[in-house]
Amino acid sequence: MIAPKPPARPDKVSLWTYVRLFRRDILSAQPARLYHAWMAEFRTLFFRSYLINDPALVARVLTERPDDFPKSGRVAEGLRPLLGNSVFVTNGEVWKRQRRIIDPAFEGGRLRDTFPAMLAAAEAAVARMGEGVLEVEEPASHVAADVIFRTLFSIPIEHEIASDVFNGFRAYQRSQPILNLAAFLPIPRWFPRFHRAETKQAVRTIRGLIGRLTQTRAAAIAAGVAPDDLATKIMTTADPLTGARFGTEEMVDQVAIFFLAGHETSASALAWGLYLLAANPEVQDRVAAEGALFAADPSFSNLSRLKYTRDVFREVLRLYPPVPMMVRQTALPEDFRGRKVQPGAQVVLSPWHLHRHDRIWPDPDAFDPARWQTEANRVHAQQAYMPFSAGARVCTGAGFAMFEGVLLLSMLAQAFRFQTVPGRVPVPVAHLTVRARDGIWLDVQRRA
Ligand code: HEM
Repeated sequence: MIAPKPPARPDKVSLWTYVRLFRRDILSAQPARLYHAWMAEFRTLFFRSYLINDPALVARVLTERPDDFPKSGRVAEGLRPLLGNSVFVTNGEVWKRQRRIIDPAFEGGRLRDTFPAMLAAAEAAVARMGEGVLEVEEPASHVAADVIFRTLFSIPIEHEIASDVFNGFRAYQRSQPILNLAAFLPIPRWFPRFHRAETKQAVRTIRGLIGRLTQTRAAAIAAGVAPDDLATKIMTTADPLTGARFGTEEMVDQVAIFFLAGHETSASALAWGLYLLAANPEVQDRVAAEGALFAADPSFSNLSRLKYTRDVFREVLRLYPPVPMMVRQTALPEDFRGRKVQPGAQVVLSPWHLHRHDRIWPDPDAFDPARWQTEANRVHAQQAYMPFSAGARVCTGAGFAMFEGVLLLSMLAQAFRFQTVPGRVPVPVAHLTVRARDGIWLDVQRRA
């Protein structure tokens, strides 16, 4: 089946060329050998980077000894003004305490409670969707932001603060460099990094707005009138070890990351998902037909009937993992496939390469939802599928995102027919997540 054919990939590029190409097109910029190698070493004057595709090494870093491979300081620095001490950038004991407070809000039973808010956001997206030739990353971002506000704070995206935060994040993103490139860029740590004035302004605006939301919520909790949503759950949960709760400032950090990690990623997956449905009309018709099973009785438990749509969404996340790369650093001397690695080296874990690795996946660039029903695929997925990362630092919202993605794809495909537009093949580029260089343009028509 069809996924955009990757342009010819160069065999080898210099580090400089790699860094320059990265922003233009992450499919063709990647040298072909990175989809085949188990490891690649990049040397700069100041540090070394290792891109690791060897499943045993990936397991060592993410699941077996995560404490010895903390998040990269080079990458976290870029995010700190916005995210402060959020769970996404912290390490060690601070990070462990934060996860103990946050994780219960995303457990299975609690997910069921978020279903009505998510369904309302999906229905609003269907009502809002236009017709004709449209750019679909924009509506995808809109609904993903709506989902986060409704589930976290029980407010829709039309709420004044919600829409101001949404617009603030757009301004922030446009002004952002590509963070993960810090793992390759040969600039020393001591080199001063200036955050641009427009980035600083966007950050102040966003954090001010989120501060108002959390203060209002803290007052509602104190008065016993707070709605039972994710924000209330997180703000009232005490650390089981110390009994401490999040303070107001620390909660602002967490809300900032829920918003950023939760809406950018889901929006990217949904937009690429709509593109792949448009490019594969028979898959789209099957998703729409299966959706009728759910539409007859839209409930949380009925979502599990959307098995084919779930495989489609898994395959979307394989070909276009919204988080293309993650970066850790070595805390101890290591041996990587016989090479001695010093502390402070950058370790790049790349869903982008692993998910299309030609020694693991048959026909790696093809869009084939049926592969998820085969026994062989179980092994491939175990070795080389990690759209949500893995191990202790696995995405907190993975379960949430899986049911959100399936619900949105299903409801949109039931209501609309999406078709590709001749001459408009989206080119994936790396921003905070994988986006299309000139947007994703589709011809959208309401189904009879
Ligand atoms: C398709 C949607 C999503 C994808 C592909 C995704 C992917 C990821 C990945 C790969 C990481 C690990 C990053 C790293 O280690 O550097 C991560 C972390 C995280 N994600 Fe997601 N995510 C998605 C949706 C969400 C949602 C909906 C939420 C919350 C509502 C969320 C909250 C988080 C948080 C809080 C972390 C940090 C976890 C930690 O470091 O302990 N994500 N996500």
